[in-house]
Amino acid sequence: MADFVPRSVLVTGGAGFIGSNFINHFMPANPGCRVVNLDILTYAGNLKNLVGVERNSDYRFVKGDIGDADLVSRLLAEERIEAVIHFAAESHVDRSITGPEIFVRTNVLGTQVLLEESRKHWQSGAVECFRYLQVSTDEVYGSLGETGYFHEETPLAANSPYSASKAGSDLLVRAYHETFGLPALITRCSNNYGPYQFPEKLIPLIIRNIIEQRPLPVYGDGKNVRDWLHVKDHSEAIETVLKKAKPGEVFNIGGNNEWQNIAIVQLLCDMLDSRLGRAAGENRGLITFVTDRPGHDRRYAISAAKIKRELGWEPSYTFERGIAETIDWYLANRQWVDEVTSGSYREYYEQQYGGR
Ligand code: NAD
Ligand code: TYD
Repeated sequence: MADFVPRSVLVTGGAGFIGSNFINHFMPANPGCRVVNLDILTYAGNLKNLVGVERNSDYRFVKGDIGDADLVSRLLAEERIEAVIHFAAESHVDRSITGPEIFVRTNVLGTQVLLEESRKHWQSGAVECFRYLQVSTDEVYGSLGETGYFHEETPLAANSPYSASKAGSDLLVRAYHETFGLPALITRCSNNYGPYQFPEKLIPLIIRNIIEQRPLPVYGDGKNVRDWLHVKDHSEAIETVLKKAKPGEVFNIGGNNEWQNIAIVQLLCDMLDSRLGRAAGENRGLITFVTDRPGHDRRYAISAAKIKRELGWEPSYTFERGIAETIDWYLANRQWVDEVTSGSYREYYEQQYGGR
């Protein structure tokens, strides 16, 4: 099958962590392809992540809600969109525990609007070919015991309001493919790390707290396991699925890189001891075990055998290289961290886009 090479894509949530890394990867790799970034700019959306592409004449930013059907419909038609790559979401498990409603609104209802407008656009015949790609998570599969892996056929068994909302949206995507034939794809990736990740997620939070010599909160016994993938590998995997996969398929994405949380925290402590000129072992003194997260999934581990076998994708980053680069990025970009934490980065939007 020839590769699908879109000429115009709608990226939702492109100002967030993974979406902005994806755009920064995709635009130079696909010159001439129009990229429209639809993002409502929640606390997690930061246009400063995109300074490298914002002057590219093929790039357009639109501040808006994926749940705004009129806006989505207009953008799909006006830009003759051939692919929707859907990153926009509420993405943090802890926030979904304290306030689940916005997770259902954005992740479930917002996805439904995107699907419905995509269906109308595709069925109108406005474009010759079309793909809808849902960026999902391994968290929809629930929690593993000490052994085994998530496969694409593993039943969905989400445990947090976040993962339940992602599972709900995945099922809507499946339904639009089965019912209407919408050429849709789903990717389910393990935990990402890398530049531009909001410092509420484990790795950037721990790096920031070490730099600032604040306590390092480790939930429960610290033995929960996550499977970490560099965000650039994730971006390449999504591009591969978009271009090479048969519509209707699901692909797991992961790096075969399992770590207990406490081991990651200790590693970050030790790597930052030397970089910050502190005594060996000093940062470990900041580790503080705190009350566990309710419903805390014990272990995630993904089998990415299908994407390797069928599409030839595998990660290129070793964890050693990826984590060293990530630490160095956060050390070199302390202002970025301060601005997203304080919210002052929002002024950049007003300056660049005049509040439109
Ligand atoms: P993020 O929270 O950093 O970014 C989400 C982006 O979506 C933000 O820019 C935000 O402004 C935007 N957004 C939120 N609501 C919106 C709305 N109603 N309309 C338009 N834009 C809206 O999230 P992330 O970590 O970059 O995750 C991106 C996607 O990847 C999510 O769908 C998430 O479920 C999935 N995912 C994340 C991980 C991970 O480790 N972070 C792993 C696998 C899958
Ligand atoms: P997180 O980055 O929130 O990702 P997710 O919950 O989607 O996997 O958390 C990663 C792991 O780290 C998870 O097991 C919860 C744990 N964790 C802590 O121990 N302390 C923290 O401060 C945070 C944010 C997470």
